[in-house]
Amino acid sequence: MQTHLTIASLRAALDAERDAGKRIAFVPTMGNLHEGHITLMHRAINHGASIVSSIFVNRLQFGPTDDFERYPRTFEADCAKLVEAGVHHLFAPDEQQLYPSPQKFVVEPDPFLQTTLEGEFRPGHFHGVATVVLKLFNIVQPHAALFGKKDYQQFLVLSAMVRELNLRIEVLPGDTVRDPDGLALSSRNGYLSDSERAEAPRLYRLLSALREQILAGNRDFDALQAEAMAELASHGWAPQYVAVRRRSDLQSPSAQEGGLVILAAAFLGKTRLIDNLEV
Ligand code: PAJ
Repeated sequence: MQTHLTIASLRAALDAERDAGKRIAFVPTMGNLHEGHITLMHRAINHGASIVSSIFVNRLQFGPTDDFERYPRTFEADCAKLVEAGVHHLFAPDEQQLYPSPQKFVVEPDPFLQTTLEGEFRPGHFHGVATVVLKLFNIVQPHAALFGKKDYQQFLVLSAMVRELNLRIEVLPGDTVRDPDGLALSSRNGYLSDSERAEAPRLYRLLSALREQILAGNRDFDALQAEAMAELASHGWAPQYVAVRRRSDLQSPSAQEGGLVILAAAFLGKTRLIDNLEV
């Protein structure tokens, strides 16, 4: 694996790959890699392309009270995992490379998509995500890019960006990778205490139970959402939302609709966990 700290170095290497007729698949990350990330790398490799991954903790997508400073940074271990996964190029810029001066040109996603659910509780988050991902896309110029459905709303925002701004990039989704007890893998799981870790799988169990109820014909989404929030709260969580939405655009569905996704965000102690399940 070649590690590139600068845009110039990465561009030169990728120009050579393209000249050799290689397709380029890109998996952007913020590091602290786990099986969720690595599964995306494997999917990219199955795509038969030269694989580029990036590690950059993007300040622009963190709010003032978010965990930017304490976000886990584990560069050496991440590199070992990427080598083992068969990644060809790692782009690991510092802030000076990506933001040499304050970023004034920014990407504003779809007003609804960027203000609902995650956007309501993390204002400005998707504007930060879309801006850095567009910059990374312009630096890497991949044929395909892979994003996990663990961050379902992020996947929709970035798919919409590619579609509406006519980027020539195929956006490919990766299924959510979970621990055996159902907890979705996340860099933030490392913040959990032992007792919180034992409690954390409740979020997935709750989504699974909701899914069963919907499949059994209970279409009173408002009541289901309220019950689920109350259930979390009664076990010491501080839920922000549990929402049944339309999978394609996150709008609220009518009672008859199919193609749904249930999304949830809740604090367990100081750790904010998100998860979702398609119905
Ligand atoms: P990060 O949280 O590091 O995630 C990088 C990619 O891994 C994202 O596409 C995310 O959805 C995916 N991922 C994380 N956990 C996963 C899991 N358990 N199963 C499957 N995929 C998983 O998402 C970001 O970084 C940033 O917002 C980024 C897109 C890099 C822009 O800064």
